[in-house]
Amino acid sequence: MDLEQLLTDRLAPAFATVAGTPVDPVVRRSPRADFQSDGALALARQLGRTPRTIATEVLQHADLADLCSVVEVSGPGFLNLTVADDALAGMVSALATDPRLGVAMAATPETVVVDYSAPNVAKEMHVGHLRSTVIGDAAARLLEWLGHRVLRANHLGDWGTPFGMLIEHLVDPGEVKAAQELSMGDLDSFYKAARAKFDTDEAFRERSRRRVVALQGGDEATLRLWRLLVEQSERYFLTVYGLLDVTLTERDFHGESSYNDLLGPVVEELDRLGLLRESEGAACVFPPGSVGRDGAPLPLIVRKSDGGYGYPATDLAAVRHRTGTLGATRLLYVVGLPQRQHFEMVYAAAAQAGWLAPPARAEHVGFGSILGSDGRMLRSRAGGSVKLVGLLEEAITRATALARERNPELGEAEAAEVGRSVGIGAVKYADLSSDRHRDYVLDWERMLALDGNTAPYLQYAYSRIRSIFRRAGLTARPDAGISLTEPAERALAFELVGFGKVVGEVAENLEFHHLAGYLYRLGATFSTFYERCPVLRADGPVRESRLVLCDLTARVLRQGLYVLGIRTLERM
Ligand code: ARG
Repeated sequence: MDLEQLLTDRLAPAFATVAGTPVDPVVRRSPRADFQSDGALALARQLGRTPRTIATEVLQHADLADLCSVVEVSGPGFLNLTVADDALAGMVSALATDPRLGVAMAATPETVVVDYSAPNVAKEMHVGHLRSTVIGDAAARLLEWLGHRVLRANHLGDWGTPFGMLIEHLVDPGEVKAAQELSMGDLDSFYKAARAKFDTDEAFRERSRRRVVALQGGDEATLRLWRLLVEQSERYFLTVYGLLDVTLTERDFHGESSYNDLLGPVVEELDRLGLLRESEGAACVFPPGSVGRDGAPLPLIVRKSDGGYGYPATDLAAVRHRTGTLGATRLLYVVGLPQRQHFEMVYAAAAQAGWLAPPARAEHVGFGSILGSDGRMLRSRAGGSVKLVGLLEEAITRATALARERNPELGEAEAAEVGRSVGIGAVKYADLSSDRHRDYVLDWERMLALDGNTAPYLQYAYSRIRSIFRRAGLTARPDAGISLTEPAERALAFELVGFGKVVGEVAENLEFHHLAGYLYRLGATFSTFYERCPVLRADGPVRESRLVLCDLTARVLRQGLYVLGIRTLERM
């Protein structure tokens, strides 16, 4: 029920009649009427007539009577379109009784793999993983809601040479003590201590090297220690996901190691296809289109000169598995922009090998960095990377304090609940409301503010509407007649019927800041409506109609925030 599309469909035949060829009517929201069509302007030269003459003729052929109350030619030759109140009201009515709020299910449901979060075992999650986790989870929620089969893939970094030293470090103080340390979530000190020993202690280094060999050789005792590391880390990551309200579960861990058995076949197949070339002892693919600064083709190293496999080989195996075995046709990789070239090369090589053939496609859903207030990469006071949990705890503490201050009537438990939802919501929303291709500055004041494009603003807008109903002891009747007369009422109606279009677009481009921007506009439009149009004090049918507008706004806000992974509250 996209109004722009509806008007376009009505105008297109009229334009075609006048021009003798198909023409895009170029319909958009207008500051002068509700919508305008600019199609006549581009046609003028082609037809050798003035745009106004063309627009006038188009008007004679257009069938708009049931949709528009006023249609007129204006300015140099625009068509100004005013949507009829009852047509708009009809759309709002349809929306009110639609549990999907005007958002269509996917026409062709697909199997979509969303590769996201992907922290590294025995290492702290950092803020880059925060972005991946938040954006990826929004993508998974959205696509699932649209009816796709979504497979969440948490491509944990759980394999490779560092595990020799990590396992030796685990053995040193005795397993029990080390496991305890790990389960406390102190992954960073564990990793750093192992690293420090590795760098200074030759005997430890030698043991670590032997461990890697044992690990790769499948030595049972070594594997058991490795599993302990992985399990402790996974347990810790799950607590972070719980705190973050992220839908990843223990079933979604598909670490790099899970592709180990597929690496051999991948290399064999690439070889059979004639795609492998040797370069400095390593087996490489040279994907077309990837060249270095000097213009020379860049190698994707599939098997290292020592016979080991690395990150690219695992990702190739993952593509092959995801399309071939899981039957996915859309592969999303929610990973920072610095890895862009890696993914371009992997996709190109996979395409060459026939593992990524249409309709299957892969998209790198890249993102920039989170910056501190100084405009540089976010760093802890000690200069290290910022611990994600610390950041989340700070958000909750700040939001809880604000919640108490803003509403002294909240009980202790309720203030804690509000603080958690608002704090976590603010962190996620700050991320999702900025263009993911760019860096953004972490600014506590701004993201926790009750006004502006923030989670608290939208959560508050939602709870305010809910309190209207609660205080009056009312519920909206979705089938009540809708009447729209006031400009503020019509403006709100236009926003509400626009939800489906925004959601459809975001499902394609995964630019969640457009959804955030939409929700913010909706909230602001609602505010104006609520200021100008009495609801509870209105009479009979007007009151019923306005209650539906209130209720619909709340439902759209709630669903939109749900997609972004943000909780709504009945009271704040
Ligand atoms: N573990 C990697 C990192 O921390 C991210 C993995 C992304 N996913 C993938 N399929 N390569 O940078």
